[in-house]
Amino acid sequence: MLISLRNIHKTYLLDKVAIQAVRDVCLDIDAGDFICLMGPSGSGKSTILHILGCIEHPSSGNVFIRGENTRTMRDAALSRFRNRHIGFIFQSFNLIPVLNVRENVEFPLVIRGGKFDRDHVESVIRSVGLSDCMAHRPDELSGGQRQRVAIARALVTRPDIILADEPTANLDSKTGGRIIDLLLALNRESGTTFIFSTHNETLSRYARRTIRILDGEIYEAAGAGR
Ligand SMILES: Nc1ncnc2c1ncn2[C@@H]1O[C@H](COP(=O)(O)OP(=O)(O)OP(=O)(O)O)[C@@H](O)[C@H]1O
Ligand SMILES: [Mg+2]
Repeated sequence: MLISLRNIHKTYLLDKVAIQAVRDVCLDIDAGDFICLMGPSGSGKSTILHILGCIEHPSSGNVFIRGENTRTMRDAALSRFRNRHIGFIFQSFNLIPVLNVRENVEFPLVIRGGKFDRDHVESVIRSVGLSDCMAHRPDELSGGQRQRVAIARALVTRPDIILADEPTANLDSKTGGRIIDLLLALNRESGTTFIFSTHNETLSRYARRTIRILDGEIYEAAGAGR
């Protein structure tokens, strides 16, 4: 088991009013999974992804990472885990406009410090089909191409798990489908675990496992052969 959420609750306080964003969520994620988190706006998808990615703490409940309870992990250990094992993809791509494709993809390795393998960077860019655009800046790319740069940037550190929060929301449905297809191919080839959120029913059909969320609760978890 890669990550396990146990009885997760998350409450936000907004002007002294408590908002229950996540209610009693239990979720187990195996290495190699390809999961769709489906639910309408405000249902708690982003909050759950942030808790899975250890960028937010639950109000109550436990998060286990490879069997280790994150409550007992210090902040430094947690950010080390995050940097090593988790990649994020956002709906608005979050690329750096002044850097070209290659530099954007290299960025997490530069931050990490030390030497990195340029051949590896190129092979990751090739795997998302952008070999011909390495010197282009984001504003010279289409939306689908930009999201592929973001995918390459998430992959370049070889994470075990990639969390994608509505990765196709800013793309037309055809391009969105292609992006999910690409994630599936990468999942098959490299075994990387993917969890993406969407409120698009059509896209959820691509996933091996769909987890439906409403008002912060899981109300249906369907998956082939599970
Ligand atoms: N930082 C915050 N402070 C207060 N309330 C928050 C905060 N973040 C989320 N919420 C609330 O928690 C609930 C779940 O929000 P969340 O962003 O997880 O939903 P979502 O399913 O990702 O929605 P969307 O599809 O619009 O992105 C919502 O009611 C939201 O208003
Ligand atoms: Mg969201």
